[in-house]
Parts: sequence; structure tokens; C-alpha cells
Amino acid sequence: MATTARPPAERVIAVRDLHVAFGANQVLRGFDLDLYRGENVMVLGKSGSGKSVLIKCIVRLLRPDAGRVEVLGQDVLALDQDQLDHLRVRIGFLFQSSALYDSMTVQENLEFPLRRHWLATARQETEALVDEVLDAVGLAHTRAMYPSELSGGMKRRIGLARTLILKPEIVLYDEPTTGLDPITGREIVELILKLQRQYNTSSIIISHDLNVAKLAANRIALLHEGRNRVEGSYADFLASDDPVVKEFFIFM
Ligand SMILES: Nc1ncnc2c1ncn2[C@@H]1O[C@H](COP(=O)(O)OP(=O)(O)O)[C@@H](O)[C@H]1O
Ligand SMILES: [Mg+2]
Repeated sequence: MATTARPPAERVIAVRDLHVAFGANQVLRGFDLDLYRGENVMVLGKSGSGKSVLIKCIVRLLRPDAGRVEVLGQDVLALDQDQLDHLRVRIGFLFQSSALYDSMTVQENLEFPLRRHWLATARQETEALVDEVLDAVGLAHTRAMYPSELSGGMKRRIGLARTLILKPEIVLYDEPTTGLDPITGREIVELILKLQRQYNTSSIIISHDLNVAKLAANRIALLHEGRNRVEGSYADFLASDDPVVKEFFIFM
């Protein structure tokens, strides 16, 4: 189980007073969040509360109306495109929609981020990286297979391997277990925890999944009505008297 030690000192993400509205729909209304090196922070919130919007703001796929986003010491909203591209290589995303390419083998899917970022130097090095990440997710035997030959859980693992191949310092997971059966979901949670240790990544994990809260989150932040309503450990949340927190633990 994830421990709730005091967060290590180095802050890798700071989100401050973030505001995002779509017309009259005020989604984020002064959201704050910190991520420290080596920890997994889970952001919990109802469907439509703005969790994916938050993640998109962190990598500037979306520009907030107001607020500040700092990633690895850089002011994300002030970067030029070139600086932003360099920063993004250091951040892995695992979005719900980040599907594998059906016409490519597992190996080709894994090589894709390297090629896109011009990081594939020697052929040997590329193969070594593919071997390493396939091994890390326990799917060394699937190298020559096509996505259609893989189960949902295996695809999710390969998605994780593809995120890891760039050796990101930070990984942003958007609902990593959604759509999987509970047992497969739990395997993915355990894998996230293993990879955090193996690669010393810092992660923000967006989820509703109690297994994520219990097993993988060093800290949980509740996004409610556009703000970070409360933060704490899984034990803190279980013991909380806050009616909004309680609602989550009843209906999750
Ligand atoms: N590009 C967009 N244009 C208009 N509305 C959007 C856009 N992206 C998100 N929204 C709205 O913002 C709210 C939060 O969305 P989202 O962050 O996807 O929720 P979730 O917490 O389920 O991830 C929703 O009401 C959604 O309809
Ligand atoms: Mg979402």
C-alpha cells in the first residue's frame, strides 16, 4: 500500500488559482494543486467536474483564462512553442483516448514516440528501449503482435509502455483504469505503483477508482465546484466528516 509520508521537498508541479470557463460553464474557479517529486497525487472528482480540463492545462493543450501553471520550474503559460515541446518530452500522458495504432505492431507503436521526438538515435538503442519498457509492463512476448490481438488490459499496459519509453519525469494519467474489469484495473494500478518506483516518476492520476485511491495515491485531492476542496490520505478521506467526501465513498 502507498505510504503517506510527508511529501519530499522538491515541487515538480504547482497549479495556482486556475480558472477555465466555456461560455457560462465555469469549470475551474481557482483550483490549486502541488505535486512533489516521487509522489502520486490522485485527483478525485465527479464526471464533468473538470479533471481532464485540469490535465490539459498542465501540458497547455488548453490555455486557462487565468492562473499559473509551473512544471519542472518552468512557467508553462509563458513558454514559446519550442520550449513547450522540450518540456512536453519530460512529461508522459496517458489519456483515455490515447489509443494504439491498429495498423502498427506493438514494437512500431512503442517506437513511435521516439521517432516523433527525433530521439531514436541508433537502431540498437531503440530496440533496447523497446525491450526495456515491454519487460517493465510484463509483455515481452507481444512485440510482433497487432493491437487487435491484445486484450483491453494488455492494450492499456502497452499504452503505459509507450508513455514510459521517453523516460518522463512526470506522468499524467487520465482515468487509467476506466473501462477495465475490476481485476484488470487492479493490475494496472499495481503496475502504476511499480513503475513509479522503478522509474522514480511523479504522477497526477485522475480517477474514480477506489483501488487507485487505496493502493497508488500518496495523496488525494478532491476537485469540487472548480476548487481543491480538501486534500489528504486515503485514511483521511475514509475518516472525513465532509459530506462531499462521504458521498464519494458511498457511491464510488
Ligand atoms: N473544449 C471544450 N469546449 C466546451 N466545453 C468543454 C470543453 N472541454 C470540456 N468542456 C466542459 O468542461 C466540463 C469539464 O469537462 P472535463 O474536464 O472533461 O470533465 P471530467 O472531470 O469528467 O474529466 C464539462 O462540463 C465539459 O462539457
Ligand atoms: Mg475526464
